[in-house]
Amino acid sequence: MSYIPAELIKKKKNGESHTEDEIRWIIRAYTNNELPDYQMAAWAMAVWFRGMNEHEISVFTAAMRDSGNRFDFSKLKSPRIDKHSTGGVGDKTSLIIGPILAAAKVHVPMIAGRGLGHSGGTLDKLESISGFRVNLTREEFQKSVEENYFALMGQTHDICPADRKLYALRDVTSTVDSLPLICGSIMSKKLSEDLTGLVMDVKFGSGAFMKSLADAQALSQLLKTTGEKNGIDVTVVISNMNEPLGRFSGNSVEVQECIDILSNKTFVEHDFDFYEPTRRLSVELAGHMLYLAKKCDSPAEGASLAESLVQSGAALTEFKLFLQRQGGDWQAELPRAQHSDVVVAAKSGILQSINTELVGLAGIELGAGRKKSEDKIDHTAGIETCRRVGMRVTKGDIIFNVFANSTAGFASAKNLLLSAIEIGDTQPKELLPLVAKVLM
Ligand code: URA
Repeated sequence: MSYIPAELIKKKKNGESHTEDEIRWIIRAYTNNELPDYQMAAWAMAVWFRGMNEHEISVFTAAMRDSGNRFDFSKLKSPRIDKHSTGGVGDKTSLIIGPILAAAKVHVPMIAGRGLGHSGGTLDKLESISGFRVNLTREEFQKSVEENYFALMGQTHDICPADRKLYALRDVTSTVDSLPLICGSIMSKKLSEDLTGLVMDVKFGSGAFMKSLADAQALSQLLKTTGEKNGIDVTVVISNMNEPLGRFSGNSVEVQECIDILSNKTFVEHDFDFYEPTRRLSVELAGHMLYLAKKCDSPAEGASLAESLVQSGAALTEFKLFLQRQGGDWQAELPRAQHSDVVVAAKSGILQSINTELVGLAGIELGAGRKKSEDKIDHTAGIETCRRVGMRVTKGDIIFNVFANSTAGFASAKNLLLSAIEIGDTQPKELLPLVAKVLM
């Protein structure tokens, strides 16, 4: 069946629901360049205003998955579980979780992304390791997941091509922040991994795309329903991004934090272990994955199992093997920045809040992320968060350390970081926990 594009746009503009056939036609025609960008942009804007119902979102997601090739791991006859985060600052848990799951002999086919806006990306972090390859072929990825449990690669041109095109179009037509479009974009890529289960880490707070817990909950429910309508078990962990996660934000510095955690190191200052939030969230997410993989009877038991695999060194061994398999030089020193500087408290008091999006943007100024898609990043650039919300600070205390190979971005990064912190006289009112909610 063929359709008149303007009639389909009108239907959505008027708030009506599409049929399955209509949605599949739109995605097919757009992928094949039969539907031009200007009509797709009009349709995306109509969706932005009018939304889609659960059935439409589920069909839209499946149609985007079917626009390209998908993996087939069915010959494994065992669970395939992935974890995906909606993006944050200092969010490095994938590098800890993949090795934990491999140590527990659970298959993890992880297709990861690059930094997006102020948020970091797993591919960029791993590329700070000398020789590490994120551009595996489909065959290499398939074989590695089957034989070694954990492999990680970037999205290729033949995986969800409809999403690649539509994402770029949304980026320039102010239609990124639509729940149905975000849900379809994320879940189509995850469905192409042929998973049996998925743990979504949906971030909320100043450093997340969803600023409020309520918006994060709405997205979480959509992601869960869409995954389940398409045949995979989905657990959503809604986690707090009102502060950078853990000690470091950047690329090589985040890899260092993960290696330290997998080596059971701590970093205690001002009576606080700055590695603890990263370790705790990683173990909790891994626990939910182990539960979905039926390796334990509850997520809490899964978290204990994950913790023991870190403590025993089994996860660290898997991390080294993973790096070696993908060409990374485990022995090589991680690149270190040639320059560093400090951001200090302008007055004494109690740290009330950290605007974490500004911390992410400061990272971009330092070179840890991109201003334009063709920019080269400085893998050594990054930020160390030296105080936490609720801590007492004295004027002149170091709140952030900044690192980079060039000092060109230092002034603007330091300005952003200074404006990111608020210091007051009383304890901040409401401190939400690291994990605010779980949908199972
Ligand atoms: N991540 C994606 O992959 N797609 C979106 O739309 C938003 C975040």
